[in-house]
Amino acid sequence: MTQPKRIAVTGAAGQICYSLLFRIANGDVYGKDTPVALQLLDLPQAQKAVKGVVMELEDCAFPLLQDVVITDDPKAAFRDIDAGFFVGSRPRTQGMERRDLLNANAEIFRVQGEALNEGAKRDAKVIVVGNPANTNAMILAANAKDFPTENITAMLRLDHNRALTQFAQKAGVSVDAIAKFVVWGNHSPTMFADWTNATADGKPLAEVIGDEAWYKETLIPTVAKRGTAIIEARGASSAASAANAAIDHMRDWIKGSDGDWVSMGVSSDGSYGIPEGLMAGVPVVCEGGAYKRVTGLEIGPFQRQMLDRTVAELSEEREAVSALL
Ligand code: NAI
Repeated sequence: MTQPKRIAVTGAAGQICYSLLFRIANGDVYGKDTPVALQLLDLPQAQKAVKGVVMELEDCAFPLLQDVVITDDPKAAFRDIDAGFFVGSRPRTQGMERRDLLNANAEIFRVQGEALNEGAKRDAKVIVVGNPANTNAMILAANAKDFPTENITAMLRLDHNRALTQFAQKAGVSVDAIAKFVVWGNHSPTMFADWTNATADGKPLAEVIGDEAWYKETLIPTVAKRGTAIIEARGASSAASAANAAIDHMRDWIKGSDGDWVSMGVSSDGSYGIPEGLMAGVPVVCEGGAYKRVTGLEIGPFQRQMLDRTVAELSEEREAVSALL
């Protein structure tokens, strides 16, 4: 019998995982021919709630779900894993400064980085979803000294997917007609949704839409503020769409992106003026279980300005957590 893929998921009692775990168990990441085993991590006080979620997983009778481990120990959660979804993180509470939030999460991801280093397979694929996702991913990588940094990524895919639908609606095409779109930089309101190279059914997207003012004044801020708009409308933050984006990110990385670009937060190699080591959203193409950065793009003045803004924020975040790097 095929060995199951072992998948760690942190923050298992949280709202994103209430969608994510069921999708993974259904075969949405590795496909319908690959059994999976879940290794669920959450805090000690959340263990009872995780057990409740696992009861529901059992009640789905997923044929591919072979084993579930519940733990509050990162070392047990990351042992022998093929993939890790790092969703759990410390939310911002009232009165908490941004720097305090960065530091509280930095400590969580330092501990988890050491555990990942100790137990995970060297070819395991890791996505960090928990915010601040980019900087958390950078800390994870810095503290997993013998684990390949290129296997640690941060999630920009929700921003990417959000923009795709806005473009498709404006252009009157289906979302899969749009190609070569990217979200650069930080998963934060400074992110840069860049349509410069994008096409709709093979034609330049900017020409198809023909409304640059809409792109700059409506699309970019709409995508940047979408998370807040969802909280206002739903009374809770985006969860199912975040889980879906994490699935898309991991599935494309494993199975390939059919030659199209996808946005992934990866450790910068210094290209496009992004300082080396920052975990920044860039365009990549996935093939054969690996991602390749899209290289050699020309960056125009508007792109430069937008890229510099989001990269400056990432640099500030790195500065704030420098003690743990
Ligand atoms: P939630 O608050 O419902 O769940 C978070 C879970 O993480 C809780 O069960 C909590 O006990 C657990 N947790 C906290 N510290 C932990 C630790 N050290 N180890 C293991 N588990 C821990 O939050 P939700 O809605 O599920 O969101 C999770 C994270 O994802 C948040 O940081 C959120 O801001 C982020 N997010 C990121 C997105 C992105 O595009 N990168 C999109 C949407 C959310």
